[in-house]
Amino acid sequence: THQWRGIIEEYRDRLPVSDTTPVVTLREGGTPLVPAQVLSERTGCEVHLKVEGANPTGSFKDRGMTMAITKAKEEGAKAVICASTGNTSASAAAYAVRAGMVSAVLVPQGKIALGKMGQALVHGAKILQVDGNFDDCLTLARALSENYPVALVNSVNPVRIEGQKTAAFEIVDMLGDAPDIHVLPVGNAGNITAYWKGYKEYSLDGVATRTPRMWGFQASGSAPIVRGEVVKDPSTIATAIRIGNPASWQFALAARDESGGLIDEVTDREILRAYRLLAAQEGVFVEPASAASVAGLLKAAEQGKVDPGQRIVCTVTGNGLKDPDWAVAGAPQPVTVPVDAAAAAERLGLA
Ligand code: F0G
Repeated sequence: THQWRGIIEEYRDRLPVSDTTPVVTLREGGTPLVPAQVLSERTGCEVHLKVEGANPTGSFKDRGMTMAITKAKEEGAKAVICASTGNTSASAAAYAVRAGMVSAVLVPQGKIALGKMGQALVHGAKILQVDGNFDDCLTLARALSENYPVALVNSVNPVRIEGQKTAAFEIVDMLGDAPDIHVLPVGNAGNITAYWKGYKEYSLDGVATRTPRMWGFQASGSAPIVRGEVVKDPSTIATAIRIGNPASWQFALAARDESGGLIDEVTDREILRAYRLLAAQEGVFVEPASAASVAGLLKAAEQGKVDPGQRIVCTVTGNGLKDPDWAVAGAPQPVTVPVDAAAAAERLGLA
C-alpha cells in the first residue's frame, strides 16, 4: 500500500535537495482540491478550494517547513527560530521535534489564536510573547539569527518558498493545467510569491500551457500593499494576516504585475461572511484569515470583475480548529435535554 510521501519526495527533482539530504517530513502536501458548489453557482465559474488546513499541523506552512527544517538539519543547525502570527510557529515546533532540534518562537503578545499557542506549547517550543506586533517579532528573530547560533525559518528563508511552491504543482497536476485565476489571502506575502514561482516553473517547463492571474487579498486593517505604505498598527480579526510590513512585499507586487492580477482588501465583516459561508454551505471549516481569499472572490464577483466560465482556485490556508472562538461567537447555545427520546425528538423538530 502507498501513501503520499510528502512534498520533498513527491517533487524531489524540483527542490534543492540531494541524495544525502536528511529529509524531515510529516508527509505534508497532497491536500484536497475540493469543488466548491455554492461558490461556483454564485460566480458562474468553476471554483475549487485548495484545502491547506488538511496538512499535518493544520496549515500550508508545513510545505515550507519540511524544506526549511530539512536544510537546517543538513547544515548542522541545532536550533531554529521564527516570528509568527501562530501557524509558522506551530509548524516549526512540530518539524523541529521530528528533527531533534530546539525551536524558539516569537509571537505578538495576545494576538495569536488559542489552537496555535497550544500547538507550540505541546510540541515543546520555547515561546516568547513579544510586546509588539508580528513585524516587531520578525525584526527580533532576524537579529537573533544573525548574532546567535540559531537558523531563521521564516519565509524570508528562500527554501520556505521552494517548499510552498509545490501547492501550485499539485493544482496543475490535478486539473491538467493552470487555472485562469488563483486567489490567496496575503499577510507576509510569502505564499503568493511561492505559488507564482511554482506556476511559472511549470509553465516554463511545459507542464502547464499558461499561468493564472494571481489575486491576493489583505484584511482592510492590515493592507499595506493595497495602501502602498507600511501600516504601523495593523488590526483585523484575522490574526494570521495581521501584518503591517510584509517581508515579501516586492515579490507580491511582481506576482500581481507579471500575472495581470490584483491585490485588494476585504473587511473583517466580509471575511466573517465568507468564513460562515464556507463552513455552512461548502462544509469546509477554515480559520478567518483563510476566508479572505473567498471573501475577495465574492467581492470581485459583486464588482463585476469575474467573467463567467473561468476556472478559479481559492487557497484556504488554515484549519478552522486553529481559532474556534469565531465558530462559537454569535452562534446560538445548544439546548440541554434529559435522556428521553420524545423530548429530544421534539427539540430537534422531528416530532
Ligand atoms: N493564512 C494563514 C492561515 C496564515 O497563517 C498566513 C500567514 C497567511 C494566510 C498569509 O500567508 O504570510 O505567506 O502571505 N501566517 C504567518 C505565520 C505570518 O506566522 O503563521 P503569507
